Amino acid sequence: MWRCFRNANRIMIHPHGFACSRAERQAVALRSRRVDDYPFRNYYLSCRVCTQSLFFVPVGFLGNAPHMDEIMQIVQASPPLEWCENSRTGSHADAGFTRELFPPDMALRTRKFHRQLEGYRMSPLKSLGHLAGMLNLGGIWIKDESVRLSLNSFKALGGSYAIYRYVTEKLGGEVPVEKLLAGEARRKLGDLVFATATDGNHGRGIAWSATRLGFKSVVYVHKNTSAARIDAIRRNGAEIVVVDGTYDDAVRRVSADATKHGWQIISDTSWTGYEDIPKWVMQGYTTLVAEAQEQLAGQGLARPTHVFVQAGVGALAASVMGFYQQLLGADRPKTVVVEPTDAACLMLSAQQQDGNPRHFEGELDTIMAGLACGDPSPLAWNVLRHCADVFAKCPDYVAAKGMRVYAVPLDGDPFIVSGESGAVTLGALMYIMRWAGARALREALELGPDSQILLINTEGNTDPDDFRRVVWEGGDSVPDAYKTHVSRSFGG
Ligand SMILES: Cc1ncc(COP(=O)(O)O)c(C=O)c1O
Repeated sequence: MWRCFRNANRIMIHPHGFACSRAERQAVALRSRRVDDYPFRNYYLSCRVCTQSLFFVPVGFLGNAPHMDEIMQIVQASPPLEWCENSRTGSHADAGFTRELFPPDMALRTRKFHRQLEGYRMSPLKSLGHLAGMLNLGGIWIKDESVRLSLNSFKALGGSYAIYRYVTEKLGGEVPVEKLLAGEARRKLGDLVFATATDGNHGRGIAWSATRLGFKSVVYVHKNTSAARIDAIRRNGAEIVVVDGTYDDAVRRVSADATKHGWQIISDTSWTGYEDIPKWVMQGYTTLVAEAQEQLAGQGLARPTHVFVQAGVGALAASVMGFYQQLLGADRPKTVVVEPTDAACLMLSAQQQDGNPRHFEGELDTIMAGLACGDPSPLAWNVLRHCADVFAKCPDYVAAKGMRVYAVPLDGDPFIVSGESGAVTLGALMYIMRWAGARALREALELGPDSQILLINTEGNTDPDDFRRVVWEGGDSVPDAYKTHVSRSFGG
């Protein structure tokens, strides 16, 4: 049963009428935006609760065409992918900056540190060889961070290294990690408190690392953070503060509160005057890229031809790209940064003439919680603006599709547990290879049978309710127009 209801500028059509309160909330959130921002032919939302589609059409339109069928024919879903090529890539004005952030021995140093952590193992590199064959690619390699340090995501690599660097600087030099873990840092430095803002995964890593060294941690989350993610942070020993706002609001609040209480912030994003710690976080991530390089070499591959990296503030993407830029220079893989359509601050920045980072306005309402950031990290942006070849953005159904493809692979490919933020690059790659509308991008990236693609599954099942909603119930389903097996828009 389809029902309509009205707000100031538009009609909202929802299959359950008023039964779904989340849907009403979304309508309220959108009311403040101008209707011209959403040409109705492009606008699509999927209800988080009942998983059905919601459409918005301007009120005036309904006057002309009162029948739902007509509306439904005209309303179309957001395309699976929008992108821009980066005109600044390869301009090495700031190559020195990238070299300084990621000096040649960086990954050796971070791996030496991470190896000493309890439960450290290289995360696996898995091959989706059959899927690669189906998509006419040479290989798809997944660096699977869902099993990293038993924390379900890559994030602790950065937070743990940053805390370690901070503590060793305070102690006046390197101390064996074993001694720090045995309480030496706490004994010498007293009651330090580490604080951070997070959408879930970074906070979990900070809580885990601080607790292991005997320190307290306070983690600020935004109001839409799921209960499961909050519980996971709390279980690792942190005190939680919920901020009524977005991730960016949580960053601002923790920064003000830390000054007031004398806490040390360990943030994955940078701001003016706060750069050392985010730099160490980014350096910490290079462990996973160095591992992947070693694992690829074990498969007889000197390097991937393409790397797709999902981005929130861009720190991970900058680490991956900075690592390859440093290691291979002009021979580095082609690189694609993937963001959610509703939180695409890096793509927005890439589209500006002046090359400066930009704030992405809005509610940052996406199922890709780890990527729901409105402000790029300036430190990361300085790397990405010279090293990323393409910026792309995708709606939630692309991430949901990626999760399902990972969970139900082709015969012979391994099964991989991948959460919303982890899976979006696989969804994006599938659309790039199979959607007629992405032909120009396919060609620009020279994707084909010789391509060896590296993707990072950055998280596993970090929000079990939402994971089941998507994988079991088919939530955020692919709109009919973009279903690869039925649509006329495919085949190009
Ligand atoms: C699972 C996951 N993937 C990717 C990212 C993106 O990392 P960054 O914010 O450094 O771009 C995050 C960030 O929290 C994340 O949690």
